[in-house]
Amino acid sequence: ANDGYKLWLQYLPFENKAVSDYYRDYLENISISGESPTLDIIQKELIIASKGFFDQQVLPEFSKTTDSNLTWIIRSEDLPEEIKGKLGTKLSEVKEEGYWLKSYQGKIIITAKTDIGLLYGTFAFLKAIQTREKLENLDRLENPKIQKRLLNHWDNLNRTVERGYAGFSIWNWHRLPNHIDQQYIDYARANASIGINGTSIFNVNSNALILTPEYLEKAKALADAFRPYGIKIYLTARFNAPMILDSLPTADPQDPAVQVWWKKKTKEIYSYIPDFGGFLVKADSEGQPGPHNYGRTQADGANMLADAVRPFGGIVMWRAFVYNEKTPTDRIRQAYDEFKPLDGTFRDNVIVQVKNGPLDFQPREPFHPLFGAMPKTPLMMEFQITKEYLGQETHWVNLATMWREILQSDTYAKGKGSTVSKVIDGSLHGYKLTGIAGVANIGTDRNWTGHQTAQADWYAFGKLAWNPDANIDEIAEDWLKMTFSNDVDFVATSKEIMLRSHEILVNYMTPLGLHHIMARSHHWGPGPWVTGGGREDWTATYYHKASEEGIGFDRTEKGSNALAQYAPEWKKTWGDADKIPLEYLLWFHRVSWDKKLSTGNNLWTEMALRYQKGVEGARWMQSQWAKMEGKIDQERYEHISSFFKIQVSEAEWWRDSCLLYFQQFSKMTLPPGVEKPK
Ligand code: GCU
Repeated sequence: ANDGYKLWLQYLPFENKAVSDYYRDYLENISISGESPTLDIIQKELIIASKGFFDQQVLPEFSKTTDSNLTWIIRSEDLPEEIKGKLGTKLSEVKEEGYWLKSYQGKIIITAKTDIGLLYGTFAFLKAIQTREKLENLDRLENPKIQKRLLNHWDNLNRTVERGYAGFSIWNWHRLPNHIDQQYIDYARANASIGINGTSIFNVNSNALILTPEYLEKAKALADAFRPYGIKIYLTARFNAPMILDSLPTADPQDPAVQVWWKKKTKEIYSYIPDFGGFLVKADSEGQPGPHNYGRTQADGANMLADAVRPFGGIVMWRAFVYNEKTPTDRIRQAYDEFKPLDGTFRDNVIVQVKNGPLDFQPREPFHPLFGAMPKTPLMMEFQITKEYLGQETHWVNLATMWREILQSDTYAKGKGSTVSKVIDGSLHGYKLTGIAGVANIGTDRNWTGHQTAQADWYAFGKLAWNPDANIDEIAEDWLKMTFSNDVDFVATSKEIMLRSHEILVNYMTPLGLHHIMARSHHWGPGPWVTGGGREDWTATYYHKASEEGIGFDRTEKGSNALAQYAPEWKKTWGDADKIPLEYLLWFHRVSWDKKLSTGNNLWTEMALRYQKGVEGARWMQSQWAKMEGKIDQERYEHISSFFKIQVSEAEWWRDSCLLYFQQFSKMTLPPGVEKPK
């Protein structure tokens, strides 16, 4: 058995006859009006779902007439006039990719402007059944709040995946373009089911070869397979590709020959992929070439590419993850310092892609100060779904909890309530272009993501991309029901594990605002002792600065003053070591070991207790999970159980190594209740 492969599209058999009879009415005879590859996909999905729900016993029949059928899947323009009239003006609220699931005189009408909207509506209908919703009063009109909802694969041509922990790349370059693997189709189904409409298939540390005909043909094959699912292909562009591929003497964005090269290259790409989405670029960062090499700005670089894709309707996603060890300022200041002055100078088909926090996908960071600071330049969010710094693939941690914390943070850009979610959905500054990207956690593992529960992060990413204000409790609950079981006890217990998991992990890895104390380079496990080696900002001691005097990075005006990049409202709380919420303390302040905190403990004691609490939390998750045996299939139950052994022992490892390391500076004993390091 490999139940993990089916993700949240398990379509588990109905638990009894009453439930089965209830939904059977809606699934047996379905009317689908019109013809298109997408409508074929809808039909196929309904067959897969029915086979699952009814254990192969019932298959839906499809017709084009709406006569007696209980379920209609129909474009809004094709609705009978009478019904259009009854549904009224609300029908016009359904936008391009939106849908309306409406119970109407005993029927379920799934209607949309486009076939992709109908596909999304069908998945919403199936989700309602999977989670055992009553259908009689269904009235769900949904439009995505963000336009470009992308996965970013950091996949290399040799099929390794940068920061990928679930096997190799699912893109089998060798067999493409001729062989379209079923896994690509299942990938597209899964993404369409959560509203993802774009995928960037190569590593941001790019290889110019992907822009050659040999690989464009392969990318085209994927684009053709994904098109009916509403998913567009994007490519990463290596900035010096004109030099590598065609021996141009320069890649200077102001050089006419370079501009012409990109225009020709872009035209060539569109000849393969007529609906190519555009470029994703990492420039001037971690060894990647970029406009700085020619004394140009990030806007010069982005605009050159934007001009090349503009005639075809493409966009450029230009990453703000730009920093340099030669710049003497605090690394986390650098993106803001560089991009903020460029606000308003980017072409309107450029969107700047900003990581959720100013450092690098840590277990906890404050939101990136660029959000709210660039009213004239569309900014998109970049989340990391793969868990580079969060235990990689063996720790169960629900990323949606962390993402919500970021999305609901207040930038105060236009007064109270200017949340990050309103920046990226465009409503705060009136952005014309909106987007969100998630660095994929997908690989060749049989269950796609390594940890069975890391599927939840892929799922939740899609849901939050559709609506960044969505309720993450509901997301977790739906995912559990669709993936494992509708058993009430199972769902309640597992949901509690999920919702508490992030705080638990932060406690055993980086409590009190500690950050980037992971081991060097691979970032797995603790490494607060890591020093030296050429560049300061790639060492852990740079970030924690522990000494006998104290610990933490001073980012107030006495220190790097990165705090000044945030709205003045934040200065009032974050700027004061006595007022700042303890979870950000050492991110912004350097404090002495004996400093008395709001909890009544001194810093050292509080740190030790939090590490201990994290370990106890991991053990609690493990013991709760142990009660789930028998409630789901044994294979996935055991898979998760065995990963808990790793998670708990790594939590202890984190606690013991960090406390032993920091104790040489604090010179204090461990408080009661904290276990002695092994
Ligand atoms: C992190 C990660 C790199 C990645 C980089 C990026 O630094 O460790 O592997 O290339 O982020 O986002 O570009």
